[in-house]
Amino acid sequence: MGKMWEGRFSKALDQTADDFNSSISFDSKMFRQDIKGSMAHAAMLGAKEIISVEDANTIIGALQGILEDIEKGTLKIDMTCEDIHMFVEAELTNRIGDVGKRLHTARSRNDQVALDIRMYLRDETNKVIELLKDTVQAIIEQAQENKDAILPGYTHLQRAQPITFGHHLMAYAMMLLRDISRLKDALKRMNFSPLGSCALAGTTYNTDRNFTAQKLGFDGITANSIDGVSDRDFCIELASAFSLIMMHLSRFSEEIILWSSWEFKFIELDDSFTTGSSIMPQKKNSDMAELVRGKTGRVYGDLMALLTMLKGLPLAYNKDMQEDKEAIFDSVETVQKCLEVFAPMVRTFTVCRDNMYKAAQKGFINATDLADYMVKKGLPFRTAYKTVGQIVAYCIENNKVLDTMSLEEYKKYSDLFEEDLYNEISLETCVSKRISEGGTSVESVEKQIKIALESLKND
Ligand code: ARG
Repeated sequence: MGKMWEGRFSKALDQTADDFNSSISFDSKMFRQDIKGSMAHAAMLGAKEIISVEDANTIIGALQGILEDIEKGTLKIDMTCEDIHMFVEAELTNRIGDVGKRLHTARSRNDQVALDIRMYLRDETNKVIELLKDTVQAIIEQAQENKDAILPGYTHLQRAQPITFGHHLMAYAMMLLRDISRLKDALKRMNFSPLGSCALAGTTYNTDRNFTAQKLGFDGITANSIDGVSDRDFCIELASAFSLIMMHLSRFSEEIILWSSWEFKFIELDDSFTTGSSIMPQKKNSDMAELVRGKTGRVYGDLMALLTMLKGLPLAYNKDMQEDKEAIFDSVETVQKCLEVFAPMVRTFTVCRDNMYKAAQKGFINATDLADYMVKKGLPFRTAYKTVGQIVAYCIENNKVLDTMSLEEYKKYSDLFEEDLYNEISLETCVSKRISEGGTSVESVEKQIKIALESLKND
């Protein structure tokens, strides 16, 4: 297809160069935003009498037709066009002749593309927020159901203190809730319209940038036209928020993979979210969680690509910036795909409470509580800590655990030990006594669930 800009040139663009230059294979995704942006622009041109109202209406009507035809599938996007902006304009002129050629008055592809990406990312990020909410909801459901299931809590992947499964799960709910607020925050900063910045310097026409901004759902206009067409900081901010989401999902995935293993068997993934092996009949693999963990690297890569692409660019627009789209599109789509599979995977796993409990029983997970028992009887914590350390060493040597030591044995270490110590160090007591805010007791977890539900409602 002939180029819009061919007037200045005496030779056609080399085919390889043309292919290299083209972005329509990936920016055609923005056809809706491009057309809606153009409709608002045409309405503004009419309202400000830069073109006649009649021409504006003809353009708007034709653009509406193009949008509907693409959505219906009766109009195929011509992949030989340089980009989606060129395609829509060419199709418009195709349909209404010279009137269509008036649309690009007081506009450049530079402000057009800066507008389209913002609108596209606004739509897609809102989808991510909905998916995150659903994932938090799924976590809350599991936490509610398993708020009293006891398992070992780990530090250094060593059994540390007994916790409830609800408590552990709600940690992820809090992380994802922060991710939601991070996205909303980024959206707020992004939601200013660059349309009307034109190529970089603004325009001599008497345009009304607030008119289009308002029509397109922006909170205002970018205050500097060079900034409006030059920066893609909003892409980077979102890519960084997406990277954090992936980091959270990846840590959760790692635990789901561990918990599903025979060594742990704390949870059983639903058959509909696991796969088998082609050779080992016994296998049930946690592929979904592994893929989420694997795709995290990809999203980090997109963030790096964007940061690096922009770092050396002089103002204003440079063609390098066309590279923003594949990176940010990949990142938002990957996050969406991961969340789409993650929420139902979490919602449908079953919890093996007995295995969790057994894992918490072995070892010295209640050692802190034994020290606390002595502290409550008057001993300074450091002294109690040392005594319990000696008791643990004795147990290891004699193949015992704290619960199986006799009172006589305990008495050798301190007169403070009485029969009531056994109740104090039972797993149930260890958990139910941790009533501090944010702690692991059922009561505390219920509060955390309430906070999370409240936050979901207000968002
Ligand atoms: N396809 C281009 C991009 O995505 C549109 C902007 C082109 N502007 C220009 N001055 N060549 O960045």
